[in-house]
Amino acid sequence: MRLGPGRRAALGLCALAAPVVWAAVHLLPPHEAASASVLVLVAAAWLLGRAVDARLKELTEVVRRLAAGDFTARAPAVEGGLDEELNRLAERTGGELAELTGEKARLEAVLAQMTEGVAAVDAGGLVLVVNPALSRLLGVDAGAARGRPYLESLRHKGVSELLAAVLKDRRPISQEIRLVAGREELVFDAHAAPLTRADRPAGALVVLHDITRLRRLEAVRRDFVANVGHELRTPLASIKGFAETLREGALNDKEHAPEFVRTIETHADRLSKLVDDLLDLSAIESGHRAPRLEPVALGPLCAEVARELAPQAEAAGVTVRVAPMEGLPPARADREHLRQIVANLVDNALKYNERGGSVEVSGEDLGGRVRLTVRDTGVGIPEGDLPRVFERFYRVDKARSREAGGTGLGLSIVKHLTEAQGGEVSVESRQPGGSAFRVTLPAA
Ligand SMILES: Nc1ncnc2c1ncn2[C@@H]1O[C@H](COP(=O)(O)OP(=O)(O)O)[C@@H](O)[C@H]1O
Ligand SMILES: [Mg+2]
Repeated sequence: MRLGPGRRAALGLCALAAPVVWAAVHLLPPHEAASASVLVLVAAAWLLGRAVDARLKELTEVVRRLAAGDFTARAPAVEGGLDEELNRLAERTGGELAELTGEKARLEAVLAQMTEGVAAVDAGGLVLVVNPALSRLLGVDAGAARGRPYLESLRHKGVSELLAAVLKDRRPISQEIRLVAGREELVFDAHAAPLTRADRPAGALVVLHDITRLRRLEAVRRDFVANVGHELRTPLASIKGFAETLREGALNDKEHAPEFVRTIETHADRLSKLVDDLLDLSAIESGHRAPRLEPVALGPLCAEVARELAPQAEAAGVTVRVAPMEGLPPARADREHLRQIVANLVDNALKYNERGGSVEVSGEDLGGRVRLTVRDTGVGIPEGDLPRVFERFYRVDKARSREAGGTGLGLSIVKHLTEAQGGEVSVESRQPGGSAFRVTLPAA
């Protein structure tokens, strides 16, 4: 058995006291023997008391450190004693605490990394946690919110209503909620569920998943389908109308019949152009027409496009000039894509121009990049419309575009094709003065 030093001294003294008391009883006169024995015993008891006192102080200090959260504190152990129990308790509690701390850190790291907004409240509605994503979205300080009622600290009607419903009914609920962040309205799929601990209600958890992009894409698709429908309906209605007129007698009207047939043809052309553009756009977007990048000399390509569009330019009374581009490095591009880009831009520059106007195609070396500019002296684009001209079906002057056989898809095809080749497109326009469309591509 291991003994503490104080206790050892006291026991030693007791052992020593035994023969002294024995000798005193046998050798001294009775009254002296009695007082000597009492004296020795009192001294021994006093020493033992001091030793116990010191042990108690030691243990008290260890318990105080443990209470303060220092689980490394240990009592100098005496086997099987209270101190040994205390040490075991300290070890177990310290281990469990370390495990819990690790788990908490892991949970906090996960919550911090989540793009979803998360908040949890206890059964009394006090905030347990608000993760960084939600604190950003709601504009609340997560630290300040903790421990306060969610109604006043989260300050969002939708989130608060969800939490209130879950705390009351103890059933999971999902619902779409909207948040205004800056100037944007964001849409969230919000899921709230009750929390339980040992089968008892322990609060509620809410998770917000951002579905703004999804909703926008759905809206774009809806608009797109509506636009396509609308674009198809107009020429189809005309074709049907003229066909009916012919059937009802105009067929025999030798003077007007050819004109009606020509109109039907024009509308059929528009339809097929629309279908071609739509198929092009869909092929580019779905990645089925991945660009085959190679060095492409811009001068010859632009001259070729200008030649192809010469009849159209002549009909419009507009001159097309291609500036010399001999010194220009070739672009790293897909020849067919680039040809389509230039053709679309020159086509627009001719269509939205006046008789006597002009179009100039030129190139510039930007060092590592090359820039093509198609500049016209045409009608120009109002400043408010400029940011939208690359959108599908966006047209400044619908009637003029239709009359010219436009589909409203040309510039969105230009933008998609340019970006697929790692380039970018921009526009500058003045009214009066004309427009300049610029396509910048990597040099080969
Ligand atoms: N060079 C230009 N000058 C003036 N307006 C232009 C020019 N290019 C395009 N636009 C405007 O941008 C709209 C979209 O162009 P685009 O996508 O090519 O469709 P569209 O089939 O109508 O030509 C046109 O309807 C026109 O209003
Ligand atoms: Mg066009």
